[in-house]
Parts: sequence; structure tokens; C-alpha cells
Amino acid sequence: MTRRNTVRDIHQLYAEQTPITMVTAYDYTFARLVELATLDIILIGDSLGNVIQGHDTTVPVDVDDIVYHTRAVRRGSATAHLVADLPFMSYQADHDEGMKNAGRLLKEGGAQAVKLEGGRSVAPLVSRMVEAGIPVVGHLGLTPQSVHATGGYRVQGRDEEAAQKLLADARALEEAGIYLLVLEMVPADLARKVTQNLSIPTIGIGAGPHTSGQVLVIQDLLGMNADFKPRFVKRYANLEKTIVDALDSYGDEVRQGTFPDDDHSY
Ligand code: KIV
Repeated sequence: MTRRNTVRDIHQLYAEQTPITMVTAYDYTFARLVELATLDIILIGDSLGNVIQGHDTTVPVDVDDIVYHTRAVRRGSATAHLVADLPFMSYQADHDEGMKNAGRLLKEGGAQAVKLEGGRSVAPLVSRMVEAGIPVVGHLGLTPQSVHATGGYRVQGRDEEAAQKLLADARALEEAGIYLLVLEMVPADLARKVTQNLSIPTIGIGAGPHTSGQVLVIQDLLGMNADFKPRFVKRYANLEKTIVDALDSYGDEVRQGTFPDDDHSY
């Protein structure tokens, strides 16, 4: 019988030193494809603000958006562990509100866990969530919800002071009860140090090879936008070309009257 990966399953991979595979997805069709590829975790990321909604940042995303997309992903996948993002201002201003919103992602969306950005300042909220039975994933390094404060999408934790701060944040989050930590755009050596100092798995994106697993945005790894290629993204396909070629062919055949032919008619 198939069943969905749990927190325990993810920790089992970590205990066995099996690298953990995580990818974003936002809808039924992509979730189904991730399921066929048997990746361990699907993140319903607030990156949907960029790749689904076309915004410049993740800031405009709201809880209803994440609930909607989490439901669709859940219908497309049977075994992947489902983590849903708490979007900007759904937890920072009011921790009671954060509790309720995390609850919504589990109750209404069907996620198994929530992810939130930030270090020591969110640790008390993490503790409350964990006490209430909500598994929490942390997110340090580049935290896109703070893009207006950080002034852009750049590598974090480069100098000693910033690296020490990140390490202290990671420890505080672990103590508060997170079961997984995403490290985004930090030097590989710092990601290694954080990973070695924690007893929970780390997942890297632009954080080098020494984390316990990796995550990428699915549209990026499939090469669906030729104009977007940060250094940390490896393209495993060139779907932009494949899809545009297919759409071109369809358009040509409709215009020429060769589609639909007898094989595609009743
Ligand atoms: O929203 C997202 O997709 C993320 C990943 C980049 C880790 O947070």
C-alpha cells in the first residue's frame, strides 16, 4: 500500500545518510510528475508568487493562494511529503494569527508541515506550533520575503559575523523544534558547518553539496524560462524550447487545416 512520507521517513533518510530530494510544485499536473519521479518532498513554495502569478517577489502571496495550490498538489501526489509555505505577513506581525494560518495549511490545504522564514525572532512561534502538533521547517540565508530589507537576491552569510549569526539562528530554530532547515544562497562551507552542527537535516538551494538534501523550483530545473538562470540552478531539461516548438507546430497545423485529421476526429 502506498502512503505519504512522514517526518519520521524524512528523518530516517537523514539517519541513513541518504540525500533528501525536494522540489517545488504548485498544481496537480506537476505534482503527478514529481510523484512518478518518486522525489521525497514537495514544497508548495511562496515562489508561486514568481512562477505562477508573475510577481517580482513573493511578498504579494497570501494564505488563500497557498491553501489553493496545496490542495491541487495533494490531489496529484500520493507519497511525497507535503510542506507548504507560510507567506509574508501571515505569521510575522501576530503569532496568534501565525498559529491559525499554519493550521489552515494543514486543515484546509492538506499539507503535513509548514515552512517559515527567519531565525531567533520566530523561534518562540516555532515552539508554539510544534507544541500544537504542527511540524515546522525553518528557512535561513536568503529569505525572499525580506527582499525589500536585504535589498536584493544575493548570497548571505559571507562574512564571519553574518555566518555566526546564521549558525546561532539555526541552533535556535533546532532548539525550538524544527525538523528540517532550508538554507538558501549561502557559501558551501557555511552550509557544511551548519549541517555538521545540527542534528536535523538541512536542505540546500544555492548552498553547495554538503547539506542533507537539495531543493529547486520545478520550473527552473526543467528550463521553462530561458531568461532566468541564477548560478545555483541546473537545468535538467529545456522545456521552454520543447513547449514552444510543440505550440508552434500546433498553431501551424491549425492554420494549415491539417489538424484535426481523421485520426483525431470522430
Ligand atoms: O518558495 C520557495 O520555493 C522556497 C524555496 C526556494 C526553498 O522557499
